[in-house]
Amino acid sequence: MSPAEVDAFLAEEQTCRIATSSPDGPHVTALFFVWDGAALWFNSLVKSQRWTDVARDPLVAAQVRLHGYFIEQIEARRADPRDDMMTDLVQAEVKTAEGTRRLSTAEAANFANLLVSAGTESTARLLGWACELLAAHPDQRAELAAEPSLLANAVEETLRYEGPSAVQGRVTTRDIELHGTAIAAGSKVLLLTSSAGRDGRKYPDPDRFDIRRRFEGHVAFGHGPHFCIGAALARMEARIALEETLRRFPTWDIDHERVVHLHTSTVRGHEKIPISVGSSS
Ligand code: HEM
Repeated sequence: MSPAEVDAFLAEEQTCRIATSSPDGPHVTALFFVWDGAALWFNSLVKSQRWTDVARDPLVAAQVRLHGYFIEQIEARRADPRDDMMTDLVQAEVKTAEGTRRLSTAEAANFANLLVSAGTESTARLLGWACELLAAHPDQRAELAAEPSLLANAVEETLRYEGPSAVQGRVTTRDIELHGTAIAAGSKVLLLTSSAGRDGRKYPDPDRFDIRRRFEGHVAFGHGPHFCIGAALARMEARIALEETLRRFPTWDIDHERVVHLHTSTVRGHEKIPISVGSSS
């Protein structure tokens, strides 16, 4: 980034800087543009501590290291292309108003970061919900263990019933009226996509979890141009994980007292679900 770009970035609201010490004194090693709770968290760190203290925070240090790792990997592919996805990112051509160009190293590293975070957090939460729902419905769990061909539909029902990505944010580009409510251009709109999975106008008896439920679709992976690019992978991962788990451990109990829920601005689910396998139910 050029000094002018850094200044422009820092002038934005809700930006954060991560600084570390070097032989030349503290310097900025990473710039973050983060939202909601995460932005407040970073900002409070930046406000309440010296910059070098921020760099010692293990979570921040992990983010900085991960970002550095992606930059290294992207640069390595630029010098020596391989048959992999990171090389595809380096070689991808982006169309802009000025013509076609390749991604910068920072852009490609950010995209790799997006793939890793969007790809791991969300699917892990889905598995947590499946674990909880199947323990609460042992009859349906037994059906799945006996008939794995039902798993694909069970994954869809879990996505409908407990969508791991609960809300999507948008800014309206024009005035619009939806369901009798006028929304002005430039409004911030929060789409409650997990809640939509329980909409009784679309799903009869919406609060009943039913692995055999037949329905046309859901918005757990979003909708339109930003529809989740990892949807097929997530579906496959969830199906295989559940099939392999049920084959080895067809029953389990959850220690509800010790379940820990996650509080994030992006995904909803569990941080911890202690289970014991081999329950009698
Ligand atoms: C159960 C698992 C998953 C859920 C519930 C989920 C959910 C979503 C949702 C709701 C969106 C739309 C966001 C919006 O409209 O603002 C989205 C976008 C995205 N997802 Fe997923 N996702 C999952 C798994 C994955 C995986 C496995 C990957 C990659 C390996 C991935 C990568 C992405 C990316 C890159 C986008 C942004 C697409 C764009 O803006 O064009 N997701 N996801």
